[in-house]
Amino acid sequence: MGKLTGKKSIITGGSRGLGKATAIAFAKEGIDVAITGRNEERLKETVEELKELGVNATYAVFDVGNYEEVKTGIAGLIDTLGSIDILVNNAGIAAFGSLNEMEVSQWTKIIQTNLMGMYYVTKEVLPYLIEKKEGDIVNVSSTAGLNGNATTSAYSASKFAVIGMSESLMKEVRKDNIRVCTLTPSTIASDMSLELGITDGNAEKVLQPEDFAELIVASLQLPRRAMLKAASLWSTNP
Ligand SMILES: NC(=O)c1ccc[n+]([C@@H]2O[C@H](COP(=O)([O-])OP(=O)(O)OC[C@H]3O[C@@H](n4cnc5c(N)ncnc54)[C@H](OP(=O)(O)O)[C@@H]3O)[C@@H](O)[C@H]2O)c1
Repeated sequence: MGKLTGKKSIITGGSRGLGKATAIAFAKEGIDVAITGRNEERLKETVEELKELGVNATYAVFDVGNYEEVKTGIAGLIDTLGSIDILVNNAGIAAFGSLNEMEVSQWTKIIQTNLMGMYYVTKEVLPYLIEKKEGDIVNVSSTAGLNGNATTSAYSASKFAVIGMSESLMKEVRKDNIRVCTLTPSTIASDMSLELGITDGNAEKVLQPEDFAELIVASLQLPRRAMLKAASLWSTNP
C-alpha cells in the first residue's frame, strides 16, 4: 500500500499523451482514475488498460471548453468515483501560426480549450476539495507560458494565462489544505508534439510522457505540509 493508494483522481485529456501516461502512473500507485476527452474510443481503450492495473477506472466524454458539458461530466464522474482528491488539468490543444494568418476561430478555440476549459473544470471540482479540506490540483502550462515566440501568440497567451490563474488559485486555497501545482514542461514526445513536427520523439534524448507522470506522482507524495508550487521539466541534453 503506497501513500496514494485509494485516492480518487480526474485527469482531463487522459486518453493519450501526457494525460494517459499520468493515468497509468496513478493506477500503478493504486489511485482510482477518471479520464476525460472528446474521442470515446480512445477513452474506452485507456480505461481498459487502467482496469488491468487493478484500480477503478471510468471516463466521460465532453469538450472542456463547453461549460454545460463540463458541469454534467464532472458531476457524473465524481458520483461514480464516490469522492475526489486529485485533479490534473491536462487537456489542451496547440496550433502555431502568425497572429494575422491564424483564423479568429482557431485563435479563440485555443484560449477556450486551454484557459476556459481549465477554469470550468476547476470551478466544478473545487467545492468538493474545499469541503473535504484536502486536495491536489495540477495545472499543465508549458514553457510557452513563460516565453512568447513568433507563431505562438494564441498558445502562449493561453499558457501564460494558465500560470496567472493557477498561482492565484494556489494563494486562494492553500488555507484549505489544497495544493495547486503549475507545471511548465518543455517539449515531450506525444501525439501533439509529433504532429506539430517540433520533435522526432527520440527516446534517448527527448522527454517522454512517463517522465512527466513521474514528476506529478513525486509531487503528490510529498508530505502534506510541503507543496511543489511550480516546476519546469526539461530534457537534459536535447
Ligand atoms: N507535448 C508537449 O511537448 C507539451 C509540452 C508542454 C505542455 N504540453 C501540454 O500538455 C498537455 C497535454 O499535451 P499532449 O502533448 O499530451 O497532447 P495530446 O497528445 O494532443 O493529448 C491531448 C489530450 O487532451 C484532450 N483534449 C484536447 N482538447 C480537448 C477538449 N476540447 N476537450 C476535452 N479534451 C480535450 C485530448 O483528447 P481528445 O482528442 O479525445 O479530446 C487528449 O487526450 C496540453 O495541455 C499541452 O499544451 C505539452
